[in-house]
Amino acid sequence: MDMSEHRPVKDIDAPNIPKATPTLPDAQTVTEVEHYTDRLFRFRCTRPPSLRFRSGEFVMIGLMGDPDPETGKQKPLLRAYSIASPSWDDELEFYSIKVPDGALTSRLQHIVPGDEIILRPKPVGTLVHDALIPGKRIWFFATGTGIAPFASLLRDPQTYADYDEVILTHTCRELGELTYGAKLVEDIRKDELLAELIGEGFAGKLRYYPTTTREQSAKMGRITDLMRSGEVFTDLGVAPLCPESDRAMVCGNLAFNLEIKEMLEGYGLTEGANSKPAEYVVEKAFLD
Ligand code: A2P
Repeated sequence: MDMSEHRPVKDIDAPNIPKATPTLPDAQTVTEVEHYTDRLFRFRCTRPPSLRFRSGEFVMIGLMGDPDPETGKQKPLLRAYSIASPSWDDELEFYSIKVPDGALTSRLQHIVPGDEIILRPKPVGTLVHDALIPGKRIWFFATGTGIAPFASLLRDPQTYADYDEVILTHTCRELGELTYGAKLVEDIRKDELLAELIGEGFAGKLRYYPTTTREQSAKMGRITDLMRSGEVFTDLGVAPLCPESDRAMVCGNLAFNLEIKEMLEGYGLTEGANSKPAEYVVEKAFLD
């Protein structure tokens, strides 16, 4: 009798040991994804229990890159992303552009709930209350995805505790790109938790001034031009910015940041930093 049939089956080449599933370093799980236009989406993910951050800060997030053709090794592909959720939220929210040939966003735009992303838990940034000296009115000037850090700050009770008036301006090319901000403001105005934390009337402090530049909307034009003409001040019924009462945070594309920075200096405001608080702060919006 051929005993070979009774030999325990053992495949030498492929031992029957389960392979360890590769886990991402600093992995967080995606919990929600919402697409607004073919250029914009938002997603939420789990928050590392140890992560503490100040509203307005950013972290490095990303995915594992493709294997190196020579070594086969994979390196994380990371970019700076403002945290769009407030510091009291259990989860983290991010608002992102989709660039078809962008190294990260061409892939990130396809994430679905349950997927993992990499999140380095080291928050930094200058768009924080600590970088400004006290004032009466705060302006948040955003273009495109530059609204993300303000989505965090606008849901932070400190913003309403520190200022009598909070003005968000958001300039985008098209109407669809305003949806995220419009929904954000709508939700804040009916948020019971914020109302409870800050008190009645907090929502009345928030003014929202959206504009578009390439598609018809209620208010057309770049915010910089509308400031130069004085139209924005007339529309809102406020005086032009002055260093005694106004503070500003700026986040948008590079050209916008440079232009508005010069304008703010023209109004007499000086730039602040974490180490030296002053009257305005600027940060570049993430672009892939
Ligand atoms: P425009 O359409 O006139 O270029 P982007 O999507 O390219 O980042 O632009 C977002 C918004 O920022 C657009 O509405 C764009 O207007 C506006 N923008 C671009 N450059 C400036 C600038 N220097 N000052 C003010 N707004 C700007």
